[in-house]
Amino acid sequence: MISVEALRIEYGRGRRRTLAVAGVTFQVADGEFVSLIGPSGCGKTSVLLAIDGIIRPTSGRITIRGEDVRGVRRDVAFITQDAGLLPWKTVRQNAELALRLQRRPREGVQEILRSLGLGGFENRYPAELSEGMRRRVGIARALALRPEVFLMDEPMANLDTLTRERIQEIILRLWHMYRFTGVLVTHDIEEAVFLGQRIIILSPRPARVVEVIENPGMGEVGYRRSEEFYHVVVKAREILKSLEER
Ligand SMILES: Nc1ncnc2c1ncn2[C@@H]1O[C@H](COP(=O)(O)OP(=O)(O)OP(=O)(O)O)[C@@H](O)[C@H]1O
Ligand SMILES: [Mg+2]
Repeated sequence: MISVEALRIEYGRGRRRTLAVAGVTFQVADGEFVSLIGPSGCGKTSVLLAIDGIIRPTSGRITIRGEDVRGVRRDVAFITQDAGLLPWKTVRQNAELALRLQRRPREGVQEILRSLGLGGFENRYPAELSEGMRRRVGIARALALRPEVFLMDEPMANLDTLTRERIQEIILRLWHMYRFTGVLVTHDIEEAVFLGQRIIILSPRPARVVEVIENPGMGEVGYRRSEEFYHVVVKAREILKSLEER
């Protein structure tokens, strides 16, 4: 379980001080997938960076499986919209990179590349791929670590709708296969509803949890076309709109 308790994050000092996160509390059960959504600049990335151990909270407590987060952990993977690929390495070498850095065996990478639809492209270089494929190589690299926890910060931002939906469906399939604990930050309401068993809505900066929407229908590729999906999307949209009008 990931437990975030009264998380507070301030940047800078004195007149440059910015309060980004002002007491955020939520839990994510093992194997659960939640979406985190909120207005632009509200502190979503800051929350993820703190869970990943990259930044230290000003106060509050974060634990993963009961242990305090004190730094980057091997069982936690983090991906952003910048896949961070090395241009002089092939798809396979990029996907194996994190494993190599940790001196871990590179088995299973081939299968992961195949499940991401990258079979046959192993020896290509990033410049020879589409943007959607490059993002998937980034996902493969993270997944190769067999993470218990998968933190995703808008990994599908700035992709066209169909590519985006295709990657969402791949992520859903991977979650069914590997049952990692997932936290997805997104500003796309439909994406949040498609991939979140719960949708945690944050306030404008400084972030606080405004509402948590249960989304039990999540889990099927066809969910997107159901009436229930539509209702959850409308509900989330109204809450987000009411925040902007405050
Ligand atoms: N390293 C930093 N130093 C100073 N201020 C920062 C730093 N990182 C973030 N901030 C500020 O903290 C606030 C929250 O930033 P954060 O990136 O967490 O928000 P976000 O919700 O992810 O934004 P976006 O929707 O644009 O991705 C912003 O006001 C930002 O300017
Ligand atoms: Mg962000």
